[in-house]
Amino acid sequence: MMARGRHGTGRGDAPTQEPPSKVRPMRARDVQQVLGIEQQISATPWPRHMLLSELGRPGTIDLVAVEGAAEVTGYLLASRYADVWHVLNVAVRPDRRRRGIGRTMMVELFDRAAGKPHLGFTLEVRVSNAGAIRLYRELGFADHGVRPGYYSDNNEDALIMWRSGVPDDMHGIAR
Ligand SMILES: CC(C)(COP(=O)(O)OP(=O)(O)OC[C@H]1O[C@@H](n2cnc3c(N)ncnc32)[C@H](O)[C@@H]1OP(=O)(O)O)[C@@H](O)C(=O)NCCC(=O)NCCS
Repeated sequence: MMARGRHGTGRGDAPTQEPPSKVRPMRARDVQQVLGIEQQISATPWPRHMLLSELGRPGTIDLVAVEGAAEVTGYLLASRYADVWHVLNVAVRPDRRRRGIGRTMMVELFDRAAGKPHLGFTLEVRVSNAGAIRLYRELGFADHGVRPGYYSDNNEDALIMWRSGVPDDMHGIAR
């Protein structure tokens, strides 16, 4: 599955030819780059041992977006607990944002999760993270309550979001 590359210069000319990212399962050799991005963008980056213990565990879907042979531009980690998929982490490298990579990884998750019956998807997101919340709402997630003080770095509340696993929910999602 290819992410859309659609950014021009904003002056009405043709889109620049950026190498598209493709989405595939995360491999152990991707971990170093994932950790690098995580340390760059997160106030509470995942440690290596946590990432490695998720990777390849049964009941997980762990994806990377890559350019070329193996340049990681984004990653997504999801785990299945009791028939519900929990999106644990999704991030795109700052210089590759707003090109559809986050959306493409999420849709790939929905596709891969569709193989086994499940109740749906849930995630937590900082209440201030308007861009991510917009992305999730566009993908069919709805607000499902708040966890007060969920984020330890600044005591910020988490918005809990939920998306049904019923295939009909895929209708209307641009792919
Ligand atoms: C959230 C994140 C993963 C989105 O990835 P992305 O590849 O930039 O997102 P996409 O290009 O697929 O965006 C799809 C749509 O989501 C919405 N969106 C995404 N980022 C947005 C932003 N910063 N502001 C407003 N809307 C945004 C838009 O509707 C966008 O469509 P558009 O570009 O046509 O307007 C990325 O911003 C990121 O890594 N953020 C830091 C980590 C993070 O916050 N992760 C979420 C934790 S729950």
